[in-house]
Amino acid sequence: MPAKILLVAAARPNFMKIAPLWRALASRPDTFEPLLVHTGQHYDHNMSDVFFADLGLPRPHLHLGVGSGSHAEQTAGVMVKFEQVCLDEKPACVVVVGDVNATMACTIAAKKLLVDVAHVEAGLRSGDRTMPEETNRILTDSIADLLLTPSPDADVNLRGEGVAEERIALVGNIMIDSLVHALDRVKNRACHDRFGLGAREYGLVTLHRPANVDDPELLRRLFAGLASLDYPLIFPVHPRTRKVMENCGLADLFDAGGDRRLTDPLGYDDFLNLTMNARFVLTDSGGIQEETTYLGIPCLTMRPNTERPVTVTDGTNELITLETMADRVKVVLAGNWKTGKVPDLWDGATAERIADVLAGRYA
Ligand code: UD1
Repeated sequence: MPAKILLVAAARPNFMKIAPLWRALASRPDTFEPLLVHTGQHYDHNMSDVFFADLGLPRPHLHLGVGSGSHAEQTAGVMVKFEQVCLDEKPACVVVVGDVNATMACTIAAKKLLVDVAHVEAGLRSGDRTMPEETNRILTDSIADLLLTPSPDADVNLRGEGVAEERIALVGNIMIDSLVHALDRVKNRACHDRFGLGAREYGLVTLHRPANVDDPELLRRLFAGLASLDYPLIFPVHPRTRKVMENCGLADLFDAGGDRRLTDPLGYDDFLNLTMNARFVLTDSGGIQEETTYLGIPCLTMRPNTERPVTVTDGTNELITLETMADRVKVVLAGNWKTGKVPDLWDGATAERIADVLAGRYA
């Protein structure tokens, strides 16, 4: 009998990690019976549905409908609903990805029922306990059975926390699977045309971390800094950021001066196309640090730390501050940014390696 595997997706950065896993498991029907569970953390069309369409994901088999809320509300809501899913479905294994609240919530609910959990993208650590994601990572990795890591630094982190070697498997970067799979599909889209800009003639901006956007005064200073770059920017605005902007009248500040384009959040294909053609990307996202490293696009990360250090040591990423931003952008525009290289096992075959590991355990 095929092993029933629950694949959990909750928020935007999960969908491109689940899609290749879905394909890999579904292509081995004698071995696996994968079921897709959407917890509902992200629910707007452009934060969720468009990703299912772009990535070729089927409709979720189960939708838990737990939307926004405080951390405790989200976490507890998912735990209550997901506990029942585990009781009903009796999976051989639950696969969680990334570091969002549902990653931790589903892990706890499953482990309390003694259901096996595999964590994809395990072992990443920013060392910054003020990030909600860091708490989610540490708690998830401390109790998940199988820790599937993207790069050797993650293995080092886990060993340092006393994790037994047999729980760790270095499988590579699952996000890059989705990227590799999408390249041919999206490369000719020329989405920048929609913004009246040419390829390599704009910077692509995303900001949504609570530490950057929740304080209106800091966000105002970030926008003033972006305006002072005096370079065309495209900025798809995350709902969290949008809320603060609307409450504080910040959109005008960003737009004043012309060449800066605010837009609603974009789907996977459009955003990937804009990334491929950007002169640089300025972000506080986790996954975009990896996508730019794969694509060789300069990435300036507005954070004091990263859980993805390989993008800095090997790739095109650099951590910046509001104070260093203008100078670092000048380095990009002068053509003097590092070129970087693609880390090992970021090759588009991570989902197949994960399927092999799961088959070894549950087939
Ligand atoms: C979450 C993840 C973060 C990830 C990010 C990507 C956690 C702790 N954080 O942060 O790691 O990088 O997703 O987007 O899990 N909202 C909408 N529509 C939606 C979803 C959210 O309007 O579809 C609004 C709600 O008002 C909500 C706010 O955005 O209160 C924040 O959403 P939430 O899911 O709590 O956290 P994110 O900031 O998206």
